[in-house]
Amino acid sequence: MTPALADRRTGDPIGVFDSGVGGLSVLGALRTELPLEKFIYVADSGHAPYGERDDTHVIARSHAIARYLVATHRIKALVVACNTATAAAIKLLRQDFPDLPLVGIEPALKPAAQLSQTHRIGVMATRSTLNSEKFQTLLASLQDQATYILQPCDGLADAIENGDAIKTIAACAYFTGAMGQFGVNDGAMDTLVLGCTHYPFAIDTLRHLVGEHVVFLEGGAPVARQTRRLLADRGWLAQPPADATRKPPMVFCTTGNASKLQLAVQRWLDVKTDVQSVVIESNPAPASLLR
Ligand code: DGL
Repeated sequence: MTPALADRRTGDPIGVFDSGVGGLSVLGALRTELPLEKFIYVADSGHAPYGERDDTHVIARSHAIARYLVATHRIKALVVACNTATAAAIKLLRQDFPDLPLVGIEPALKPAAQLSQTHRIGVMATRSTLNSEKFQTLLASLQDQATYILQPCDGLADAIENGDAIKTIAACAYFTGAMGQFGVNDGAMDTLVLGCTHYPFAIDTLRHLVGEHVVFLEGGAPVARQTRRLLADRGWLAQPPADATRKPPMVFCTTGNASKLQLAVQRWLDVKTDVQSVVIESNPAPASLLR
């Protein structure tokens, strides 16, 4: 990397994507960790939910969005702010974009094992994430440290995505009820891993259901720290602007309903912004799938 190119990359944005609004929970952590950076967020709501679709769909969508962000927005790094897309596609994304720093997110099983006193840990995630080879490998490596109660939460991300409070409450009640006893007593789950980036937006409901002593774990902050590390290693961190009062821009795009994303951004990030509607075609198939 020549110094001139390295210099130019400092001012480029970081791309972040999810199947919908869930990745905003990660973007919030990224903004806190990296306040000088520009971000471009893609909600793939027109092709969501990912969690109950097959891998081919999620891989094709992840590649299409990565290609779009590189070609159209010249991103300097990509954060896959979706557990389902990370599980299905990050390995292939790394093959197809070898020069692009890539950060994925996975359910925080390891920190949970370190924190739990009862050694019983609840894990809520999409069916696709829980069935993935990546997740199963992680789980197998930690089986001797704790008992993990896995709960596929069909429909929960969709209810959160649509801002449907009644469905969200009903789904949370059903799934936490199915998992068993929460609390700090022996035999109860004292730790709950939120293995889907949509679920932090249901945290008040979940807290009400599982009680005040249960520890929630999500992956936003570790992802943000890893993004900082990768950029710092390359000398690509943004430099303070000449006018320190100006906040770096965030651009929001969706393949679905723009006003829905706009409302979510305002609600969850407290940011008033315009949202761009974009069409991101899935074709051509990613190079790694054609090999
Ligand atoms: N937010 C995504 C995740 O972290 C999944 C939501 C969906 O099913 O589309 O897994």
